[in-house]
Amino acid sequence: MLGKKLTIIGGSGGMGKIFGKFFKSHGFEITLFARNEDRLKQIAEELEVNYELDLKKSVEYADIVMVSIPIQSTPKMIKTIAPFLKENSLIFDICSLKSETYKALYEVHEKYPINCLSLHPMFGPAIKNMKNYVLLALKVGGTEQYNEILSEFLRIFEISGLIITETTHKLHDLKIALTLGVPHMFNILFLNLLRRTNESLSELTKYTGTTFLLQKVFAESIIQREMEMFGDIQIENNEFHKVLDLFENLIKEYRNVIKNKDTKGFYKIFTEGLEYSKEDYHFNDSYKYFFQFMKTLKKKLK
Ligand SMILES: NC(=O)c1ccc[n+]([C@@H]2O[C@H](COP(=O)([O-])OP(=O)(O)OC[C@H]3O[C@@H](n4cnc5c(N)ncnc54)[C@H](OP(=O)(O)O)[C@@H]3O)[C@@H](O)[C@H]2O)c1
Repeated sequence: MLGKKLTIIGGSGGMGKIFGKFFKSHGFEITLFARNEDRLKQIAEELEVNYELDLKKSVEYADIVMVSIPIQSTPKMIKTIAPFLKENSLIFDICSLKSETYKALYEVHEKYPINCLSLHPMFGPAIKNMKNYVLLALKVGGTEQYNEILSEFLRIFEISGLIITETTHKLHDLKIALTLGVPHMFNILFLNLLRRTNESLSELTKYTGTTFLLQKVFAESIIQREMEMFGDIQIENNEFHKVLDLFENLIKEYRNVIKNKDTKGFYKIFTEGLEYSKEDYHFNDSYKYFFQFMKTLKKKLK
């Protein structure tokens, strides 16, 4: 049976805080760990949970340890705390890239009698409720009670309405390159391309209909997010590097089509995009969604 003592390493961060609230609401006794005491104390008081500044003390009695610190520090943290963990306890991370983290978890699960899991919530700290959001899960391995402990633990998310998708670390990083890395990159590039024309966004907005307005608002929301994490998601992911090579070739091809006034080439690229998206679940109603977003934005402009 799963114990109720749960420690969050990185408990004063955006994700640490929302998961602290979430687990507390499920009856867990929470301890938060982070390095900066002022911020940690403030969040612990806000959530009405305990905090601990000594890393070993924060985890040694825990039944469950969640690691919620920046991507690059996660594997080292897992290896540092593993020797302090209680027999049969569960450790999991929520980091946005998995190849190095998975390796670290795999290594410690072979060395110590603990249970290891890797999760990736496909949402950020701004959400109000986790219901209907996707949680990616990578099973690593553990003690004889692994399956029992894991199903009890994952059940907490299931009953709260999260959609759990099981995956592997290789697949995870490839898909994340496409579902996070690519849209982030396009929006960062969109704003930087416009910036290099020396046109102001508010001036351009006077000349817009629909597409630009939506794209602009979307990009503005992306550019206000966590720069360090967004950088790591692209820089630290080898799968994203491969996608970038593909993109470079595509841009070269596109440039040739445009510069050579190759109408047929343009139709070909356009049609290939259309055929590809036709298969998608949202395709048929996409124009409807587009105008729903537009309606909201137009109301705001009044
Ligand atoms: N934000 C998102 O949208 C999102 C979505 C899905 C997954 N994630 C993943 O969630 C994790 C946390 O992200 P976040 O957005 O919550 O980050 P964050 O807001 O920057 O919080 C990071 C937390 O970790 C602590 N910390 C930083 N470096 C540390 C270290 N070396 N040792 C111990 N504690 C450290 C920080 O406090 P101190 O500096 O005081 O120690 C803070 O409590 C990341 O792995 C990220 O990939 C984030």
